[in-house]
Amino acid sequence: MDTHALQHRSIRRFKPVAIDYRALETVAQATSSSEFLQSFTMIRVTTPRLRAAIAAISGSQVLAQPNGELFIFVVDTARAIRLTAAGSDLHTLTNWNAFLAGAFDATLAAQNVLVSAERAGLGGVLLGSILNDPQQMIDLLRLPRYTFPLLGLIVGVPAEAPAAKPRLPQSLVVSENAYPAPDDAAMARYDDVVAAYYAGRGDAARQSSFTSLVQRHLGADQKHRDEIGQILRQQGFVLD
Ligand SMILES: Cc1cc2nc3c(=O)[nH]c(=O)nc-3n(C[C@H](O)[C@H](O)[C@H](O)COP(=O)(O)O)c2cc1C
Repeated sequence: MDTHALQHRSIRRFKPVAIDYRALETVAQATSSSEFLQSFTMIRVTTPRLRAAIAAISGSQVLAQPNGELFIFVVDTARAIRLTAAGSDLHTLTNWNAFLAGAFDATLAAQNVLVSAERAGLGGVLLGSILNDPQQMIDLLRLPRYTFPLLGLIVGVPAEAPAAKPRLPQSLVVSENAYPAPDDAAMARYDDVVAAYYAGRGDAARQSSFTSLVQRHLGADQKHRDEIGQILRQQGFVLD
């Protein structure tokens, strides 16, 4: 089996080297697509001003440096809706199923680009932090009705080689035929593994187990994320 995918680590620092972004855009379009509606749009960010504005929304150090290609993946049923006759019932292009289809297509395309980039020796990281202010993203990218900015992705030539982050014990995540039984002992062992990983991260060392990470998440400042439902409705999605 191809083990490239097992080498994955998110890369957040890049060398000032140009990459073949057109090849990555082609890969995005080759991705599987829900009902073949191709309900996503991919926007490459090239102006420093726009990149700076997105960096401010994201708050991510990744965007504070100028290297790497930044793409925004947008859920898009607007393109399909333009093909419908005036007065059509748009239900199947605006309901939860349509939104999910767009979210699947956008996410899978982004992941396909990342995996393909990694196989070519590049690296990158997905940026959900663009959702810190979806309305501002909509305004900045001049997104029309029936679209939504779902996910960012930055790709470039890696300028760092981080260690792999240890994943949950397989028995907690993978099962046969039914949901796996909770296993507190396995989870406790994983807490120790995660704590050792974070403690050993050199400059970025910190104290955290997986359990404490989850518990901190409860109190996370989610900025504008509770507005996502309302913004989706303003964008024309009918999510009851
Ligand atoms: C949907 C999604 C959104 C993410 N958003 C961010 C982000 O905004 N900033 C960031 O630094 N990493 C982001 N990541 C990367 C995760 O932090 C990373 O995948 C996780 O910590 C595991 O580390 P690894 O990818 O190196 O294995 C995101 C990952 C996913 C799947």
